[in-house]
Amino acid sequence: MKKGTVRKILSALQSTSGKDFLNRLTLQLDQAIDADYTFISRINIENHSSTTLSLVSHGKIADNFTYSLEHTPCADVSDDSLCVYPENICAHYPKDQLLVDMKVEGYIGTPLHDSQGNVMGIVVALYETKIEDPELVTSLFELFTGRISAEIERMEHQDALTKLNSELEQKVSERTLKLQETLDQLKASQNQLIENEKLAALGRLVAGVAHEVNTPLGVSLLANSTIESCYHEIKDAFSSGALSKHVLETNLETINEAQETIGLNLSRATELITNFKQLASDFHIDELETINLSEWIDALLSSLQLLINTSDIELIKHYPETNIELITYPFRLAQVITNIISNSVNHAFDQDATHHKFIAIDVHTNDEECIISLQDNGQGMDQDVTSHIYDPFFTTKRGVGGMGLGMSIVKNLVSDSLKGSIDIDSKPGEGTRVNIHLPKKAAA
Ligand SMILES: Nc1ncnc2c1ncn2[C@@H]1O[C@H](COP(=O)(O)OP(=O)(O)OP(=O)(O)O)[C@@H](O)[C@H]1O
Ligand SMILES: [Mg+2]
Repeated sequence: MKKGTVRKILSALQSTSGKDFLNRLTLQLDQAIDADYTFISRINIENHSSTTLSLVSHGKIADNFTYSLEHTPCADVSDDSLCVYPENICAHYPKDQLLVDMKVEGYIGTPLHDSQGNVMGIVVALYETKIEDPELVTSLFELFTGRISAEIERMEHQDALTKLNSELEQKVSERTLKLQETLDQLKASQNQLIENEKLAALGRLVAGVAHEVNTPLGVSLLANSTIESCYHEIKDAFSSGALSKHVLETNLETINEAQETIGLNLSRATELITNFKQLASDFHIDELETINLSEWIDALLSSLQLLINTSDIELIKHYPETNIELITYPFRLAQVITNIISNSVNHAFDQDATHHKFIAIDVHTNDEECIISLQDNGQGMDQDVTSHIYDPFFTTKRGVGGMGLGMSIVKNLVSDSLKGSIDIDSKPGEGTRVNIHLPKKAAA
């Protein structure tokens, strides 16, 4: 062996691993021992076969292949013996056709052991001529067997790990898919439930409206039959020539009263139905628009000024200095603010309240949303009222103008159309604050 051979081999192997390591080592060994073929092979005991992991043929890396161990010297090596045949190998293994075909003369094979001490592979050198220095070959092979075995084991562990990892990934993605499907199903059921709940709410609303409309219609019918009987009384008296001034006057008065009752009740029914239509969100005329919030609120408030002024209430406004642009449905937002302000005007303050009354509008904003707060310093509400405030037809002013639809409309508009949320903070004696949270853009 030339001086420095081992150092040369080692330096060629620096920072290599896996297949690259095996190929470089086989090439280096092949050069050092001057063989015609050198290979490192993995033994498969069950198949009684051997598969090369790296093969050098006449100085060059060649394609790997698998061969049967039957009748070969490699079988003896894999039985854990060092085989050295400097010449005439085919005479010892005449049935090894491969050796015969390759015209191999000399053979040296060394077993490779795994960490448990079992033979896992072999390193083999084949010569087409007699081997001059077999000891050099065996000693060089033996020098590297431990390193080769360790690298093969490491590669196999890594392959197993990669396989396990991809199996695991496969399992995770299968589970994720199943979870996603379950989640989709849940979402579908949730949407269905929400739809059912909306329908149920609409059903309750329709029933409520029907009930409410029934009262003015019933009264109108009654008044109508009163008119009818007056008509017959006048007609009968007239036909019989007995129509006195008194009979005519009292009947005309009754007819007049009944007709007024009918007028009032029919307007109430119309009002109820208009509100119901509003509640059922038939708002296709209102389109998304970009508004400058403070300017827009100012314009809205000026239209409400009369209502507020006649009640001797001061309007206090706080807007941020910078412009706030909001993409929203202005008509619906106007309904929301109008309903809340008219509630403050109608419910917050007693007729004979003497303190300084105010309604304050504050506008705040952050990156995602804009908050409009409407606060009055009126009498506030108790827990019982606030817990029912969004129920359709809930009012504490029945018979004196209240229909109990205002806040229920507000709630529907804010959460469904304007894609925001609403909360109320109110305590008896401390006034009421309504906060409307709106996204900077109400999705279309
Ligand atoms: N700012 C407020 N201060 C005190 N009570 C309030 C205030 N806002 C609402 N309420 C109470 O909540 C109830 C429900 O309000 P809502 O707007 O839904 O109906 P309403 O004002 O009575 O009738 P409608 O709005 O249909 O004319 C009111 O009757 C009132 O008792
Ligand atoms: Mg109201």
